[in-house]
Amino acid sequence: MADLSVRFAGLELKNPLLSASGTFGHGLEMSGFVPPAALGAWVSKTVTLEPRHGNPAPRICETEAGFLNSIGLENRGLADYEATVLASLENTDAVIFTNIGGRTPEEFAEMAARLDGYDQISAFEVNLSCPNVQGGKLPFATDPATAEATIAGVRAVTKKPIFAKLSPNVAFIGEIAKAVEAGGADGITAVNTLLGMSVDWRTRKPGLALVMGGYSGLGIKPVALRCAWNCATSVKIPIIGCGGIFTADDVLEFLVAGCSAVQIGTASFSNPALLGELPALLESRLAEAGLNSIQELIGTLRRES
Ligand code: FUM
Repeated sequence: MADLSVRFAGLELKNPLLSASGTFGHGLEMSGFVPPAALGAWVSKTVTLEPRHGNPAPRICETEAGFLNSIGLENRGLADYEATVLASLENTDAVIFTNIGGRTPEEFAEMAARLDGYDQISAFEVNLSCPNVQGGKLPFATDPATAEATIAGVRAVTKKPIFAKLSPNVAFIGEIAKAVEAGGADGITAVNTLLGMSVDWRTRKPGLALVMGGYSGLGIKPVALRCAWNCATSVKIPIIGCGGIFTADDVLEFLVAGCSAVQIGTASFSNPALLGELPALLESRLAEAGLNSIQELIGTLRRES
């Protein structure tokens, strides 16, 4: 059987499959579908300093090839995350990435400082790119200087690996990738959702109460793959690909494009057990190709014709 383990940013993961933030709750909700040991790592829903009610409904809307969300970072806040989620994960053998969000660079740093002492947390994913807060202006994801300063603030308070989650809603994602690398990120998650909207022409109503939201699913795969490749060719730190990944072949495409691992999000809504099924499918794909280790594929894109 092929070796699915991957090593990057000081982490050793049993496979390159992570849950995408916001699609698995904090992980606990999904353990009936996927045993924690089946994943390379679990990524939490974004946790913020204070509880957030999120955006008005409707805040999920299906489209032709994926869906739009406008959740608005609903969560119970940091104190509740510590008391309930982290407390219940004390003896876990799963690898946990905690995704953190903030309204200012200082808030991101405060979150990381407070969570730094928890051994249950293997890494931080820093959500620079939620399109559903701050009017969709993406202040941390579109300006390289702000992205760098935000990551530098987190870097100053933790030695845990930091992954900066970037937005596809920028002209040159490679420039943002370079900025977060300069700020001290150990890796990049590429990418969050694309800004989108939908309309029902009969009712004249938008699909989402706030009109715009984050578009994810099958339709964004080529954009996400391009963004991941742009990042991988711009920086030396590892990339975790994310966006429209549904199959073992999708996973392997992102690895060839330069990703060290991938996140699965929207696909889990149609098949919540998918993350547990993919390892066996990856093994058979690698066996078909005569490969012993999945690491052999990473960054092997052939550009000659
Ligand atoms: O609205 C949301 O909670 C989405 C978050 C994100 O895409 O980062």
